[in-house]
Amino acid sequence: MSGRDRRGLQPTRRGLARTAAGLVASAGIGLRMPAVAEALHAAHPADDDRNRIEPFWGTHQGGVTTPLQSHTYAAALDLVTTNRDDLIGIFRAWTSAAARMSRGQPAQATDQSIAPPPDSGEALGLPAARLTLTFGFGAGLFAKDGKDRYGLAAQRPQALGDLPPFNGDQLVETRTGGDLSVQACADDPQVAFHAVRQLVRLAYGVAKVRWAQTGFIPSVGPDQTPRNLMGFKDGTSNPSIDDPADLERFVWVGTEGPEWMRGGSYVVLRRIRIALEHWDRMPLDFQEQTFGRHKYSGAPLGLKSEFDPLDLNAADKDGNPVIPESAHVRLAAAASNDGARILRRPYSYNDGVNFTTERWPPWRQGMEYDAGLFFVCYQRDPRIGFIKIFDKLSKFDMLNQFVTHTGGGLFACPGGIAQGEFLGQRLIESSQPRSTG
Ligand code: HEM
Repeated sequence: MSGRDRRGLQPTRRGLARTAAGLVASAGIGLRMPAVAEALHAAHPADDDRNRIEPFWGTHQGGVTTPLQSHTYAAALDLVTTNRDDLIGIFRAWTSAAARMSRGQPAQATDQSIAPPPDSGEALGLPAARLTLTFGFGAGLFAKDGKDRYGLAAQRPQALGDLPPFNGDQLVETRTGGDLSVQACADDPQVAFHAVRQLVRLAYGVAKVRWAQTGFIPSVGPDQTPRNLMGFKDGTSNPSIDDPADLERFVWVGTEGPEWMRGGSYVVLRRIRIALEHWDRMPLDFQEQTFGRHKYSGAPLGLKSEFDPLDLNAADKDGNPVIPESAHVRLAAAASNDGARILRRPYSYNDGVNFTTERWPPWRQGMEYDAGLFFVCYQRDPRIGFIKIFDKLSKFDMLNQFVTHTGGGLFACPGGIAQGEFLGQRLIESSQPRSTG
């Protein structure tokens, strides 16, 4: 997202509302939603870059290698149907709605006065805002409680195992797992929430929300790395989204995966609470040792520039490592993990404050922030991506004194959807309906 003020490029919301009101008045009758929506949409000048549209159809799903949008709204859903046709029905409806909303259009085209409107309407007049919708399949889609509900059990990829328990995990069941996931990313928080809300509405009776999480990054220019709530630049050392070879190697599933996963990726989501109260009392030097990078420049310790390569062998005059043994970046670096790399798309989250009491001296009680990092990462195989790296981090990382993982999940995000196809079509067609229906 560009840092410059785009308000000058855009008609005011009030102006847009007047346009719609004028249309309704001049027609002399209440216009149906699609007509109002088209009028509002057309009111955005083409050169308004908030109106930029990210492609929906293609070899890969959007929202994986898309330059980070400023906001996210992710949800995991549980399937409540046992009927395979219901599942196919929501995959079809989601595909059509997602493609429309990515273009800045309402979720559905038709408007019948006897039915609720085809869209809840809170994004009317808002630009497309580079909306992407990234869908994922959890283990429960393939088998749940030992039951193969949709005849898909044989299609479960080996890479979609259950995430193992990690040291220090404090996962809350109601914030963890799910049969399906959808992550909306957009340059407007209401556009992101709106999109997921429509999909949830379309799935009524078939799937229900299990958990959801919002996230944001600061509005820095595309050439700057956003800072997280600990004040450090987050996202510096990532496979390049402009390097197809890096992406083929670390992000996209290749011929090792089932046909329907090719060009797809596995996403790991983790809701990580950060004890900001504790962190804010740490000296700068200690904060920098924790990460192994300088806070203000983002450079590796001892170096000057953010993108200077890590030198894990650098030692000070006493022979001690410049980047401590348990610094976050040392433990997470590819060189410490047999070359493993993941594509991180980290967002901060801020869910207000919670009341807490301590049962040990000084028996403090009061409010603590419920804020931290909504960690999102994509990889070709989680067993040699997140699981491998985080197994080490969860045991030795200095950062562990400040962070607690409270929820999340692992989902298989299939390859992109070609125009005319629907989400999951290749998975569905590679399996047989169970004879019991
Ligand atoms: C609240 C939790 C976390 C915070 C605040 C955090 C923050 C950071 C920061 C500031 C950096 C250095 C700049 C950069 O390269 O982006 C970094 C690097 C990195 N982090 Fe995290 N991180 C967190 C959790 C995790 C987790 C759970 C993983 C799981 C695998 C992870 C994997 C990585 C990797 C792979 C790097 C790049 C290392 C390198 O190659 O230099 N981080 N993180």
